[in-house]
Amino acid sequence: MIAPLTISLDVNGERVEAQVLPRQNLADFLREHLALTGTHIGCEHGVCGACTVRLNGDIVRSCLMLAVQAHSASVQTIEGLSDSGEIADLQAAFRERNALQCGFCTPGMLMAAQDLLRLDAAPDRERIREHLSGNYCRCTGYQAIIDAVEATAKARQAP
Ligand code: FES
Ligand code: FES
Repeated sequence: MIAPLTISLDVNGERVEAQVLPRQNLADFLREHLALTGTHIGCEHGVCGACTVRLNGDIVRSCLMLAVQAHSASVQTIEGLSDSGEIADLQAAFRERNALQCGFCTPGMLMAAQDLLRLDAAPDRERIREHLSGNYCRCTGYQAIIDAVEATAKARQAP
């Protein structure tokens, strides 16, 4: 019998303390313990990007991390970015340009796109494509997603 461990971390600005099994990954912890189901699980192998979250300011694949590794960290999920309004313009651009269809990839795609826009305020299409290349979308063909990110970058640059 493996004993659970206590972890304490900040999730979307709230202090969270929980008991987790040592082998539980961060994606499952967010979904099952905290009901933050916007973090999707696709491949569980670090390939698809559906589980992308922000950890101490950088995006990570939460299926590749153990929950215990997030002890003392600050985690932001798509719910946190959405509720704070940080990505309201990006979400609107995705809606306007039909950059989502089934929506499965969308939370991870938005997390990765916002990460790029924080690193590079004026990325060209090639840079956007490269930054999002680890986030798979089976529906859209990517063009509309690139359009939405490019439009958001331009709008944020406008005086
Ligand atoms: Fe984590 Fe696919 S579920 S990268
Ligand atoms: Fe369906 Fe991207 S919108 S996987």
